[in-house]
Amino acid sequence: MSTTINRQPVILTGDRTTGPLHLGHYVGSLRNRVGLQATHKQYLLLADAQASTDNADNPGKIRHNVMEVALDYLAVGIDPNLTTICVQSALPALAELSLLYLNFVSVARLERNPTIKDEIQMRGFGRDIPAGFLCYPAAQAADITAFRATVVPVGEDQLPIIEQTNELVRRLNRQAGQDVLLEAEALLSSVGRLPGVDGKGKMSKSQGNAIPLSASNSDIEAAVQRMYTDPSHLRASDPGKVEGNIVFTYLDAFAANPDEVAELKAHYRRGGLGDAVLKRRLTAILQEAVGPIRERRAELARDLDFVMDVLRVGSARGRVITEQTKEAVLQGLGLFRLR
Ligand code: TRP
Repeated sequence: MSTTINRQPVILTGDRTTGPLHLGHYVGSLRNRVGLQATHKQYLLLADAQASTDNADNPGKIRHNVMEVALDYLAVGIDPNLTTICVQSALPALAELSLLYLNFVSVARLERNPTIKDEIQMRGFGRDIPAGFLCYPAAQAADITAFRATVVPVGEDQLPIIEQTNELVRRLNRQAGQDVLLEAEALLSSVGRLPGVDGKGKMSKSQGNAIPLSASNSDIEAAVQRMYTDPSHLRASDPGKVEGNIVFTYLDAFAANPDEVAELKAHYRRGGLGDAVLKRRLTAILQEAVGPIRERRAELARDLDFVMDVLRVGSARGRVITEQTKEAVLQGLGLFRLR
């Protein structure tokens, strides 16, 4: 067997399969992943097991959305020849590693994780937190380390999870007396979280303020119509505010030509650029961005056998590397091994 040294850094990231992805995911991460797959060894995880940690009563939703998110990946340009797409629940080593890792973190430390604290509050769990949910940072540490990933493209809200992953890596390596696991680094998108079309918080399907990747031209037009601009910009001739005006936030995220956006901003500030004209321009830009994704997605949705094949091949590859890491951890910790 030839031993090729792979110098490409390994990326792992994933999405909970709780719903189809939207434009917030697109600018926050999907667009980056399409770029990164050329220069990195990239794995994408359809995190159905993690999705179960707060959706245990709705397995149908989680199952259905494995395929939906896979369609989103392929539609935006994730190339299965460059990126390995895996289904989390099809990789048993991830669950086994999670259990081992849980012995290297305290309940108090899990409860202190700011991401977990926020999410517990958001979901209104009170004291009735599913144990699996509280423990998901350890499971995510298993995801990241099992693939030997050193780069993890995530949103800012996930930084505490990466920090906790690295804590676990150091504790486990110390116990093993060798560097069995690698520490990882978060890679933040240069564009922050896209606000929802209502301007209230980040774009999120559950908030009803999202534009899905399958949005039609008229969906997009209606969504842009809903967007807040500057409430004191009453007549087109009035000078308007760009800061906090989410039409400009979207233009910054999607317009191909930054000079055009700079020009629109100057015009708006000066007065003489009406909201209707501005919104018409944003509508056209978004329709241009989403159109090819929507069409490719519809095409792929007619060939689900192909998509299933991509997931089968990807998960088989994922199984190999995650099993290797599990073996290394069991060995490193000096646990009993059958021979
Ligand atoms: N927690 C991530 C989210 O909420 C999804 C996820 C699961 C993930 N496993 C991962 C992200 C591993 C990065 C690496 O979207």
